[in-house]
Amino acid sequence: MTQVSYSPGLEGVIAAATSISYLDVEHEQIVLRGYDLIELARVKRYTEVAYLTLYGHLPSADELAGFEGQLRADAELPEEVYRLLELLPPRMHVIDAQRTALSFLAGLEDPDELRDSSPEANLRKGVRVLARMPGITANAYRALRGLRRVRPDPSFGFAEGFLYMLTGSRPDAEAVRVFDLTLTCYIEHEMPNSTFAARVIASTLSDLYGALVGAAASLKGPLHGGANEAVAHMLLDILQHGGAAAAESYVLERLRRGERIMGFGHRVYMRRYDPRALLMREFLPHLAARRPEGEELVRIHGVVEHVMQREKGLYPNADYPAGLIYYLLGIPIELYTPIFLVARTAGLVAHVTEQHANNRLFRPRVLYEGPRGLRP
Ligand SMILES: CC(C)(COP(=O)(O)OP(=O)(O)OC[C@H]1O[C@@H](n2cnc3c(N)ncnc32)[C@H](O)[C@@H]1OP(=O)(O)O)[C@@H](O)C(=O)NCCC(=O)NCCS
Repeated sequence: MTQVSYSPGLEGVIAAATSISYLDVEHEQIVLRGYDLIELARVKRYTEVAYLTLYGHLPSADELAGFEGQLRADAELPEEVYRLLELLPPRMHVIDAQRTALSFLAGLEDPDELRDSSPEANLRKGVRVLARMPGITANAYRALRGLRRVRPDPSFGFAEGFLYMLTGSRPDAEAVRVFDLTLTCYIEHEMPNSTFAARVIASTLSDLYGALVGAAASLKGPLHGGANEAVAHMLLDILQHGGAAAAESYVLERLRRGERIMGFGHRVYMRRYDPRALLMREFLPHLAARRPEGEELVRIHGVVEHVMQREKGLYPNADYPAGLIYYLLGIPIELYTPIFLVARTAGLVAHVTEQHANNRLFRPRVLYEGPRGLRP
């Protein structure tokens, strides 16, 4: 075996060649199919960026109409999925319900289509999954809470319809725009743990659904997507324990105890701003008035950020503003990581498609530290 160095957590290791996205930390840019993700988020809808992520180019007007039409047409869930969701134990996390539904959907695919890992088949399945993810997510939440089903309404666009199903009421234009922008911010981000998990699974030539199920399990963790929910809980905890005036001592006490403050730090950005966090933060002052405690929460958010920079030199990642934005939009907290998964579905499908199209099995080695020579 060739001697290679061991990098705990695979830090700094190049795990795949890709033409999907790249974190250009030096230039503070997230490159997505050649574009700057932040510029895209400012001027394009999620569905346009999803098309770009999946097919490699921005859609023409006809291509976009076709793609959005497809997402509408495939949005309704098979009856069996509603019934599955209604069987799940009420204490289950919504992301575990999403993962279960994704697994179940694999069984509803035609077996030949499920096995077909050509780019065309993966993209066909991927678009079907993306179309169904908002309905799965909203209905998983509703079923777990004992609420009635909500059906996708084809008169809404993707983000609008998703937000409508999450909150149960027709969203206004500002809410739709900001929510759509957060979905774009979450759409794709090079090689986080969940994308790596999906590619590792796909590299055995296992199917797209299996790869997405693995990615969902990875995304749930608080060191990854789960951080946006942890952020909202922390901000509310500070609100209940003295508000902005007590935020500094709250953070200092947590740090003194060696705890992590969720929503800060990043393996790749290290001690720099995540460009998505900077973009999403711009919207907080506009959204603050949407909830009675909004202004105070935005103040707390600012204090925690300031203290983290001063004390640890750590900057917010995307989950830090996203957690608060979703709260200000009136979305229940247990839906934040599941929303991240819905948005990331486009990126994951693109990665699985790319992995299958140019596959080499992932099979690393270990640095063995156990005993040797023992006898039974
Ligand atoms: C994202 C994350 C896992 C990256 O971790 P990593 O690259 O493995 O870096 P490490 O865990 O080795 O952290 C490096 C140092 O920064 C500290 N640190 C990193 N993130 C921190 C945080 N959020 N709060 C407090 N300290 C933090 C670590 O304690 C460590 O300090 P030490 O060297 O004194 O022990 C980490 O920053 C984290 O746990 N953040 C909070 C969870 C989060 O927001 N996740 C979403 C990521 S998009």
